[in-house]
Amino acid sequence: MNFKNKVVVVTGAGSGMGRELVLQLIAKGAHVAAVDFNETTLKETVALVNSSISKISLHVLNVADTEAVAALPEAVISAHGHVDAIINNAGIIQPFVRVNDLSFEAIHKVMDVNFFGLLAMTKAFLPLLLKRPDAHIINVSSMGGFLPVPGQSVYGASKAAVKLLTEGLYAELRETNVRVSVVFPGAINTNITANSGVHMELPKDMNPKDYKTLDAGKAAQIILEGIERNQLHIYVGSDSKFMNFLYRLAPTFATNFIAKKMRGLLG
Ligand SMILES: NC(=O)c1ccc[n+]([C@@H]2O[C@H](COP(=O)([O-])OP(=O)(O)OC[C@H]3O[C@@H](n4cnc5c(N)ncnc54)[C@H](O)[C@@H]3O)[C@@H](O)[C@H]2O)c1
Repeated sequence: MNFKNKVVVVTGAGSGMGRELVLQLIAKGAHVAAVDFNETTLKETVALVNSSISKISLHVLNVADTEAVAALPEAVISAHGHVDAIINNAGIIQPFVRVNDLSFEAIHKVMDVNFFGLLAMTKAFLPLLLKRPDAHIINVSSMGGFLPVPGQSVYGASKAAVKLLTEGLYAELRETNVRVSVVFPGAINTNITANSGVHMELPKDMNPKDYKTLDAGKAAQIILEGIERNQLHIYVGSDSKFMNFLYRLAPTFATNFIAKKMRGLLG
């Protein structure tokens, strides 16, 4: 997709990769419907945009609220006239505990935002996207969506569901005008832990140098370039690319490798 003059909906636009996606989309000449449930940070994103260049609309909304999501297309159409792409980027992690210690409340919260919210967005916008000459659905999964990370098993399950859903959409929409991409970020430098209401302390014996993170702006750049190339799979960061390779080559070895590396997080 060439973003010039396209209308793109971005969820999770108030922080991290979502904010960077908005700013870079605007720089590429797109019009953006920016969605987040955090009104304060969403307004901060909008304030960073030079609105004389492109049009940006602001939508305060919880993607896990099915009724609110069903009403969103109308709001976007009334702001922009049509919609060409959606980037389902909003997401949260789970508390860093084993499944045995994870409450059903926390489990439902993660699935409601990461999977059902993304699915509701997709179903709300797909009928409109099918009417456009060149449309795109982009769903943000995670490296944890193909590789198990201890202490994030339900988060991983929600992101694996996003992966398969998106690949299924790709197969179903192959002969339409709607392109489909799934994004697998590795470790990216954002506030996702605090934004998810999760407390995490790096154990003392962990060397922060072993846990390099990618800048959110660089991550957004890789994502947008992947969309411009109509890539189905977009791997973000050398960790995601390497672990994808390793997991395909030797899944059990890769699982044990990450389990050992992340062992300290579980206490
Ligand atoms: N940061 C990482 O290392 C990493 C790695 C892999 C995948 N991801 C995924 O990338 C996406 C973006 O993450 P990020 O790191 O930029 O996080 P972030 O916390 O910086 O940004 C996420 C934004 O989504 C918003 N949000 C959360 N739940 C919402 C809801 N129910 N409705 C509307 N808005 C909501 C938050 O308010 C926040 O502004 C997420 O889907 C995340 O799972 C992140």
